[in-house]
Amino acid sequence: MRIVLIGFMGSGKTTVGRLLADRFAITHIDTDPIIAERTGLPTVGEAFSHLGESAFRALESSILAESCRRDSGIISPGGGIVTVNGNRAHLAGWHIVYLHTPFAVVEARLSSSEQQARPLLRNRDTAVALYDSRLPIYRSWATHEFSTVGRHPEEIAAEIATTPFLLSPPPSSLTANR
Ligand code: S3P
Repeated sequence: MRIVLIGFMGSGKTTVGRLLADRFAITHIDTDPIIAERTGLPTVGEAFSHLGESAFRALESSILAESCRRDSGIISPGGGIVTVNGNRAHLAGWHIVYLHTPFAVVEARLSSSEQQARPLLRNRDTAVALYDSRLPIYRSWATHEFSTVGRHPEEIAAEIATTPFLLSPPPSSLTANR
């Protein structure tokens, strides 16, 4: 089983990823804490601010590439992996599940301290613009899309886990989206 969960900050990638990994008894890889650990900083937000976005993205891409070499697992990368085109190639052979969450739901779901902990959410106008620019990319990379609106993470994980797409092999070519 090889699944990567993509989506905007606050869409539930980590929570749903853990639940799916438990269900299938396979490894869950969350790239944000790995980034924090490798930079020696307490949080991924501090790593982002300290490194600057381009060094942060380079580190994130290399951790993603390593993670995608596994034979199985559930990967929950940061919401920004779709900003690096080259990352798409690492995901070949993985089911790419987009957790769709409207911006208003993200805002309502994350506490103000959780928003402040994410440098890219600190300014509302730029966060909205970022959301709008990323939405089409999430959709173009995704092989499957699930809505998280009004649903508990357990329900979302159960829906993903019981959907027949998991019975077919993930697309191995970059053009086989959707
Ligand atoms: C980011 C998302 C964050 C974290 C960093 C940048 C982004 O992860 O990697 O703050 O660019 O969307 P989550 O999506 O897990 O919040």
